[in-house]
Amino acid sequence: MTGPVNLREVEQAARALLDRVRDDYFAGGAQDEVTVRGNESAFARLALLPRVLTGAGDPSPEVTVLGERVSMPVLLAPTAFHELAHPEGERATARAAAAAGTILISAMLSTVAIEDIAAEARKVSSEHEPPIWFQLYLQPDLGFTEAIVRRAEAAGCRALVVTADSPALGRHERNDRNDFHDLPPGMNCPNLREQAGEVRNVVLSPEISWRHLEWLRETTSLPILVKGVLHPDDARLAADHGADGVIVSNHGGRQLDTTPPSIRLLPRIADAVEGRVPVLLDGGVRRGTDVVKALALGARAVAIGRPVVWGLAYDGEAGVTKVLDLLRREIVNALALCGYADPAAVRRDLVEEVSWR
Ligand code: FNR
Repeated sequence: MTGPVNLREVEQAARALLDRVRDDYFAGGAQDEVTVRGNESAFARLALLPRVLTGAGDPSPEVTVLGERVSMPVLLAPTAFHELAHPEGERATARAAAAAGTILISAMLSTVAIEDIAAEARKVSSEHEPPIWFQLYLQPDLGFTEAIVRRAEAAGCRALVVTADSPALGRHERNDRNDFHDLPPGMNCPNLREQAGEVRNVVLSPEISWRHLEWLRETTSLPILVKGVLHPDDARLAADHGADGVIVSNHGGRQLDTTPPSIRLLPRIADAVEGRVPVLLDGGVRRGTDVVKALALGARAVAIGRPVVWGLAYDGEAGVTKVLDLLRREIVNALALCGYADPAAVRRDLVEEVSWR
């Protein structure tokens, strides 16, 4: 095989192509980036304890997430500003996700309008509508929030992912150092365009509360997932407030620094929700074995953020396809080596905490 053989090599290849400012924007996190590093290293501190002679047969990595049959337990996490990575931006990402048969969680802060992203995904498959979920930052102006929700619904999005970990913007010192605070000329966020034509700025407000989630629950019939849950009590509250799923996430270490690695909190959150709603996880997933560990600890599926952006920067649609293909192959291999064929059957006793030295 030529080219990168795993996600870390895609990252290296992509980062060599990106200029400093964009590389810092994608790779960076909040303040000392303790959580950015912790997300990945936490997976390495978990060991796999495989079962032998199970006769499980060939693994099939397909799973069902909120009624959606997907080709593998990996979704594309919402990440902003794909045109910074590649001129085709989210158009390329949408085609790759649709071709791979998995869910694109499209960011509200995409540089391509949600209608165009959905249209692009449809070009790949005429038989079935490729699944797209829409990530939403609830705006204090509920009229404006509702207008965005209606656009997502009309574009065919099949769920809303409310990002709850952003009552303020995390402090990205790399962006400060690079004086990077605005998109370059020619790029904007068309999902925030008003009817009058003005593109608004996103508002990240500490006034957003569970009451707003209740409002959203009454405003749309789409399934709602709450993303950015870390405290088990908040996972319970999300289910109490009518959420259809939670995503355990620390925003890839880009919001509050020194939050625990998301994988560490997963078992407690899975216990807290007691199967009332599916639990998803993102943060630091780079290997098929990471995915299997998350499944064992209670996740229905995981999402990947930076690896998608790096695939896009490395080779556009083909680069994202490469990332998803590599991960799918690794998941199949990891399941087989663990003695499982079905991702949904993976049990908690597959994971063991170790210190390797
Ligand atoms: C993000 N993430 C994010 N999340 C969100 O809800 N809305 C957003 O607009 C963004 N934007 C964004 C931009 C970039 C460049 C990155 C890297 C991340 C967070 C994302 O959804 C996810 O939680 C993390 O990326 C997961 O961690 P990994 O896979 O990047 O380690």
